[in-house]
Amino acid sequence: MSVNMKSYVDHKNGILDRRIFWDDDIYQLELKNIFARCWNFVAHESQVKSFGDFITTYIGEDAVIVARAKDGSINVMLNSCPHRGNKVCFAGEGKIRSFVCNYHGWAFGLDGKLNGMPANELYDDTEGFSKEDWGLHKARVETYKGLVFATFDEEAPSLADYLGDFRWYLDAILDIDDQGTEFLPGTTRSLLTCNWKYPADNFVGDIYHAMWTHLSAAEATLKETGGIIVTNKNSYQTSVNGHGWEFSLANNFGNAVTMGEKEIVKYLRSREEKISQRLGEVRSKLLGSVASGLIFPNLAFLPGYLTFRTFLPKGPTETELHCWTLVPSEASDEIKEKWRIGAMRTFSPSGILEMDDGENWEHATIGNAGYVTRNQKLCYAMDPTKNQKVDIDLPGTVTKGQLNDANQRLFFKRYAEFMDAESWADIPLATKTFE
Ligand code: FES
Ligand code: FE
Repeated sequence: MSVNMKSYVDHKNGILDRRIFWDDDIYQLELKNIFARCWNFVAHESQVKSFGDFITTYIGEDAVIVARAKDGSINVMLNSCPHRGNKVCFAGEGKIRSFVCNYHGWAFGLDGKLNGMPANELYDDTEGFSKEDWGLHKARVETYKGLVFATFDEEAPSLADYLGDFRWYLDAILDIDDQGTEFLPGTTRSLLTCNWKYPADNFVGDIYHAMWTHLSAAEATLKETGGIIVTNKNSYQTSVNGHGWEFSLANNFGNAVTMGEKEIVKYLRSREEKISQRLGEVRSKLLGSVASGLIFPNLAFLPGYLTFRTFLPKGPTETELHCWTLVPSEASDEIKEKWRIGAMRTFSPSGILEMDDGENWEHATIGNAGYVTRNQKLCYAMDPTKNQKVDIDLPGTVTKGQLNDANQRLFFKRYAEFMDAESWADIPLATKTFE
């Protein structure tokens, strides 16, 4: 199938065709042109720390294993046996020496190589058969400061080029000291009846919803302030290659405060000056502020809570959410534990804020498929700072004020670029301003 996605996505005027949220032909093209092409987040290095550690996840709908091999390399390979196609690993995570397929017993190393099979001799006289040809299909793997990404596209640019200057912002979470970061143990998984792009567009630039969707929860948790205060004063949206971050520089700890763990706010305050010396004043305000971000296409994060999550597509109207909490490695065990509890209280399947969101995305998805409804457009036009000069010099396409639809329009612009491209050669990349 080929579509002219630009006819569905009018990013200039902020008008979207609802079809992109439920149509199966479009969804099948997304699996090919978005997920099989992009650098997809698959793990944090701390989840596969040493030889034998593995986790399983998905790139698009392709099941993959992420495993640390004996030589220290991280390998990402299809979780599908090349013999008859059975899954070779059914666990979510663990430690193992080899993956042995349940069906006929072919055994694969942590580097994906086919090491052996029962009754090996049956293949000895099979002309042209070589074990080297029948390992698990592998993806390219690169890391950025602890985050592991993989792509199945040989033509994809380097991860550094793919992230571009968005790395400058990511460092405000990933590079605040020499010790780096880690994920707390465990993954929460939940299934939503929504299209994967709803959560993606929510995190890339939609703080607008927080004032309404989360009002009641915010009042209940922050009774002194009476809710979430969000304004376009001293706040921004920034976008690079479809990745986006909307943030306030007015309240450094706004997100962190809503976790209800005073010790975390104290901890963030105690680190601010050192982070400012390392990364400059602007970035020292990003770790806990009222903000959200997304690495295209489906890895989102929230400063403060430090929740990281992927929106794994399971068909046009289903999405599996995998979530983790990231913490600075140098933090004490006590602080890490408070982060775990604070993140679970707010942004977990039963979290007081997360539950608000899922319901909206589900009803938006289901509603769009109605026969008459599907022919109506969606409004992404909010642009209240259009004629105002951006008063700050930051990398990427910067828009003044976090309350606008700018990042979401740029996310869908990027989406359309991928969907309409024949190959990576047709996909533009923003020029990097630093290495
Ligand atoms: Fe895996 Fe046969 S399907 S060994
Ligand atoms: Fe929300």
